Amino acid sequence: MRVLVTGGAGYIGSHTLVELLALGHDVCVLDDFSNSSPVVIDRVHDLSNGRVILVEGDVRNDDTLKALMQDFRPEAVIHFAGLKAVGESMARPISYYDVNVNGTLRLLRAMDKVGCKKIIFSSSATVYGEPQYLPYDEAHPLNPTSVYGRTKMMSEQILADWAGSDGRAAILLRYFNPVGAHASARLGEHPDGPPNNLMPFIAQVAIGKRARLAVFGDDYDTPDGTGKRDYIHVVDLARAHVSALDYAVENNGSQAFNIGTGASLSVREMVAAFEAASGKTIPCEVTKRREGDIASMQADPSLANEKLGWTATHDLNDMAQSAWAWQSANPDGYSKS
Ligand code: NAD
Ligand code: UD1
Repeated sequence: MRVLVTGGAGYIGSHTLVELLALGHDVCVLDDFSNSSPVVIDRVHDLSNGRVILVEGDVRNDDTLKALMQDFRPEAVIHFAGLKAVGESMARPISYYDVNVNGTLRLLRAMDKVGCKKIIFSSSATVYGEPQYLPYDEAHPLNPTSVYGRTKMMSEQILADWAGSDGRAAILLRYFNPVGAHASARLGEHPDGPPNNLMPFIAQVAIGKRARLAVFGDDYDTPDGTGKRDYIHVVDLARAHVSALDYAVENNGSQAFNIGTGASLSVREMVAAFEAASGKTIPCEVTKRREGDIASMQADPSLANEKLGWTATHDLNDMAQSAWAWQSANPDGYSKS
């Protein structure tokens, strides 16, 4: 299949490229490298038999999209390109609405012009907001508490309306907490500046870049008092996109799927797993709760298990081992090819 991957040089996109190329798909990547590097694409090529066509550009640029659509004629699109930092989204809401919502609109318009009817969209568990019950299933009400979350919810609504006719399909993948790295240790997550998320922060403490992990509260109503999340290995997440592509070809309309393991792990459990994988001690200091954090969340992934034929196969040890292998082999991220 000819698949356009927007944001394909990013953390989740790059792992997905490897899976798509392994299956022999023809892949075109559109990325403006605002949060990634062309070196990622070189590394994807090193790990694959196939090659991608690379277009450097912004998903909001109509001319770029038009030329790409006419040249490449994608049969499906996987749309990763977007901004993803919750705190930043509150400080720069218009940028977030512009890139995430306007970017999605422009992409759909460009797809319509060449009759491309299938899209897989990167949504997030953050669309659910404060849990009314757990695990979240896809019918849980949507009540995002950040601008970032609202851009994902609005994009989902636009995609659902778009997919309502003419044999179109929009698959909305609600990711839980992606962690880990490719088994080769050549692809992984490299945040710019201090990491916002737990796993990259722990990894940077382990290599000595940061002195200690601030544990954001140990007085939650959880067994060890720290927050619990449904962490999902990035390679499992990448494979969910491949399954979603097959589903989109065979089905019309829109459908949301939770992409998580169905289990939740605490901050303390994540630290212990990383210490075991790395042989390093992770100094921790308990601080106050982070504003907006919830105690615990986890996915009910049974719809994805059943309809996509997809299940997470990597365990906590795989997540910690691969994150450590990546971090220790690439302390400065993608600075070198
Ligand atoms: P990432 O920042 O590593 O990847 C995003 C890619 O999109 C980057 O390569 C970036 O350069 C590119 N990009 C950004 N704006 C662009 C634009 N206007 N035009 C073209 N390219 C652009 O992020 P990621 O972690 O791989 O996330 C991918 C998607 O998944 C995002 O939409 C994100 O919101 C969503 N998501 C991520 C997580 C997570 O924890 N990583 C969780 C839920 C959902
Ligand atoms: C964050 C985002 C969420 C996004 C998700 C993607 C916020 C408020 N939410 O959620 O919208 O979908 O990432 O992966 O940013 N923790 C620490 N110390 C740290 C970092 C985190 O104790 O330095 C704790 C948190 O309190 C939480 C857990 O670790 O209990 C996981 O945090 P994080 O990785 O930021 O993920 P989320 O909170 O789920």
